[in-house]
Amino acid sequence: MAAPNLNEIHDFLVSLAYQAGDIITNALLDTNDTGSKKNSADLVTQYDRAVENMISSSLKNKYPDYVFHGEETYDPSHPLTDAPTFIVDPIDGTINFVHGFPHSCVSLGFAVGQVPTVGVVYNPSTKTLYSAIRGQGAFLNRETRLPLNHRISEPLSGLSNATISIEWGNERSGPNWQTKIRTFERLGQAKENGGAMVRAMRSLGSAALNICAVAAGTLDLYWEGGCWEWDVCAGWVILTEAGGMIVDGNPGSWKTTLDGRKYLAVRGAPQSGQKEIIEEFWGHVQGKLEY
Ligand code: IPD
Repeated sequence: MAAPNLNEIHDFLVSLAYQAGDIITNALLDTNDTGSKKNSADLVTQYDRAVENMISSSLKNKYPDYVFHGEETYDPSHPLTDAPTFIVDPIDGTINFVHGFPHSCVSLGFAVGQVPTVGVVYNPSTKTLYSAIRGQGAFLNRETRLPLNHRISEPLSGLSNATISIEWGNERSGPNWQTKIRTFERLGQAKENGGAMVRAMRSLGSAALNICAVAAGTLDLYWEGGCWEWDVCAGWVILTEAGGMIVDGNPGSWKTTLDGRKYLAVRGAPQSGQKEIIEEFWGHVQGKLEY
């Protein structure tokens, strides 16, 4: 098989992102369109399915040799392999979409050898496009290099000066839930009581947009357990091309895999400080995420 033409794939994914954006923007949602998957915090709409259908048929038509993984059609008996694979979330931030909160996106990733290699994330509500090709830098709206200018010279100087993103997820009981809420408490708590006293914690409802915000530098860190490869693949390339990194959401492991389901993303920083802030964060994780 010939090596994938990454620039061509990038441009094709951008065109699909805009087409997906049109479907999302023109959606006429009513409550009958919305169904639950696992529970009332795990939603799917006819538009998630329509967007995925449009994207998968276009990709299978143009790139019949490449594997396709999409959130709405994922078959767990076919996990991620080293084959060139499109990894797609048709609407990331479905709850925001259903509620009309203008913070959801289409997330289009391409991985080779399980390494995120091309990423395109598009929020049609704000007309914001993030994109990257491995080795070629990351961009906002195809022209502004990431991280954004006003963040590029800002060192990372500990959690007390950091704005971080966390997500509650849809699993609301059991050990993972306990780990999350106890960790959130520690992160927010005053230092004299053993906390990290993070400057601010945000829960914005889209893993892909969280990672892109870390790439842009408008968030410093993002931590989540329980999301999937389609939530992170596209953003991963964008983040690493912007100088950021992704490590395991559990303490101690500097490497995590695309399908590892627990992630800590940290932005690029001029005099680094990445290692220090990751270790500081890990020091506040209460328990172990198990996925
Ligand atoms: C979800 C969102 C959410 C994150 C969940 C994801 P969806 O994706 O990214 O922010 O907390 O882990 O599953 O369901 O909106 O595609």
